[in-house]
Amino acid sequence: MIVRQLKAADIRNLTFVDWTPGEQVNIIYGQNAQGKTNLLESLWLFTGGKSFRGSKDSELVRIGAPRARLQCTFFAEGREQTAEITIEKRRKATLNGVALSSPTKLTGLFGAVVFSPDHLMMIKGSPELRRRFIDAALCQVQPSYIRTYSEYLHILQQRNALLKEWYHFPDDDQLEAWNTRMTEAAADIVVARRDYCRILREQATAVYHGLSSGREEFSLSYEADKPYEQMTREEIVDFWRQSLAESRKADIGAGFSTVGPHREDLSVSISGLSARHYGSQGQQRSAVLALKMAEAAVLRERTGEQPVILLDDVMSELDETRQDYLMNHLDGWQVFITCCDPSTISRLADGNVYKMDAGELK
Ligand SMILES: Nc1ncnc2c1ncn2[C@@H]1O[C@H](COP(=O)(O)OP(=O)(O)OP(=O)(O)O)[C@@H](O)[C@H]1O
Ligand SMILES: [Mg+2]
Repeated sequence: MIVRQLKAADIRNLTFVDWTPGEQVNIIYGQNAQGKTNLLESLWLFTGGKSFRGSKDSELVRIGAPRARLQCTFFAEGREQTAEITIEKRRKATLNGVALSSPTKLTGLFGAVVFSPDHLMMIKGSPELRRRFIDAALCQVQPSYIRTYSEYLHILQQRNALLKEWYHFPDDDQLEAWNTRMTEAAADIVVARRDYCRILREQATAVYHGLSSGREEFSLSYEADKPYEQMTREEIVDFWRQSLAESRKADIGAGFSTVGPHREDLSVSISGLSARHYGSQGQQRSAVLALKMAEAAVLRERTGEQPVILLDDVMSELDETRQDYLMNHLDGWQVFITCCDPSTISRLADGNVYKMDAGELK
């Protein structure tokens, strides 16, 4: 997918922008608080998702304006398409002039992968963020995973409800029934996540190799402490049957399910050390970037459409070699990079440069 044109009116501090970006690397530089992130956020909205900053829709409308309007012309599925988004009380969207029942209908057509400094928590933060990353990525490349995942959540909630009331209403038959269902659902989740992590690892390793000029080795595995790598689905079912039986006492004591894929983690290491516990700032940033680029590569491989890459404020804390890789070696991708330091641009070999100044793009 390629973004050909973006028009944005009254979104955040962008009063009016009419922009025809280049098909490869686009650098948007400018001082703090000029509107660089706002521009990337405007593009991101065409994925149908919420703001990547977690903002409410009403906060996106320029203060004092009645509504925000966005129009994007992009090339996808073999033809040029135009989507429009209006944010007033609600967000509405049209595609090629036809109103959509919901802006989320754009998901899957307009693809984007975003890096923002908040995403560093993917490495630094709790396992929940890493599970969320794999689960969200899996839902995109393998839509049947949405059902697998909701089935597991449903079983987990029901089992937890039973455990919570156990003291007053112990029910062994029911617990056994939930255990049987949970082992099957858990195995489905584990197999999907493990297999996705395998292909993600291949792609992320290649990106990390490029970022670090081959000086550091990236590695990734799903729940490294468990022997999942070599196991068949049936063996994983057996594994969970046994684990649930073993945790029975602990589960009843705690009043919830103390084990299961809802407690598992993705481990990322750099040159043999955990990125979360030992990584430097630059290494952690590189690791997130490698994961994000890998997510994009898998999406391209699986869907045949390539997402655009939005890199917000990615350059700080990266040395020149790593910056050079991002600017000059992400061949074949349409990339949007924001930065503050204008000297960064001097190292851009080929691409377009724009300056953001008080909401105006020059
Ligand atoms: N709804 C809104 N209406 C008007 N202005 C807004 C709105 N939301 C945010 N802004 C303003 O937009 C400005 C620019 O924000 P943005 O986050 O895009 O800056 P930036 O160029 O990315 O800066 P930095 O380099 O610090 O990340 C901020 O000063 C903010 O006050
Ligand atoms: Mg910013």
